[in-house]
Amino acid sequence: MAAPGEKKESHADAQREYFRTRVGVFIQPIPDEILARTQKIAESAELSESSQVLDVGTGTGALITHFLSLGVKEKNITGVDLSDEMLNVARERYPEVHFIKADILDADTVIGKPEQFDAVFFNACFGNLFDQKMALQKTQALLRAGGSIIISHPLGKRFVKALHDSDPSIVPFFLPEKDQLEKWAKELEMKLVEFVDEHDFYLARLIK
Ligand SMILES: C[S@@+](CC[C@H](N)C(=O)[O-])C[C@H]1O[C@@H](n2cnc3c(N)ncnc32)[C@H](O)[C@@H]1O
Repeated sequence: MAAPGEKKESHADAQREYFRTRVGVFIQPIPDEILARTQKIAESAELSESSQVLDVGTGTGALITHFLSLGVKEKNITGVDLSDEMLNVARERYPEVHFIKADILDADTVIGKPEQFDAVFFNACFGNLFDQKMALQKTQALLRAGGSIIISHPLGKRFVKALHDSDPSIVPFFLPEKDQLEKWAKELEMKLVEFVDEHDFYLARLIK
């Protein structure tokens, strides 16, 4: 389902403008308790040294340090984001990661090659998307058989709801309930294999 009353391109422009002015927030040191949660998110995909990883809405690259700690090589990581300002920080931090400035809803044209990734992460960005199901459809096509899509937030669903309540044009959606994910998984020929919905932590894992 698409965000109400908007076009995909104008939604992307609004995201870009929103994050352009907020890079400062994302370059602050991350508290240890949040780092423990983002580490848990990265670990959920059972990555190995040969894994190919797609980080959607990579921002300043908060998850990348965890992928590296699990042995993933920088050159096997692709980060996609709409915002030049966020990507500039990520590029400086991780010079060998492949970063693409794009809307993930254009993944079929900007990334193209299907069935190349072992894992696709949507951390702290799934509520921001113009069309959540389309994002899953487009990234599912980029996954090899047996690969995972991880949807997560280290502050939980309640945090995304608060963002939605304060600015629904930037965060049009909540994080999905279990039954919604099961429905999407079935339609996409995937399986929901993990679902954690705690006060301060949300993680869903779908396997192709
Ligand atoms: C809250 S930040 C989170 C960044 C990072 N994932 C993290 O965990 O710190 C959300 C990011 O998603 C990006 N974003 C939002 N919608 C996007 C889309 N449709 N395609 C690609 N990136 C998107 C924004 O530009 C922003 O950098």
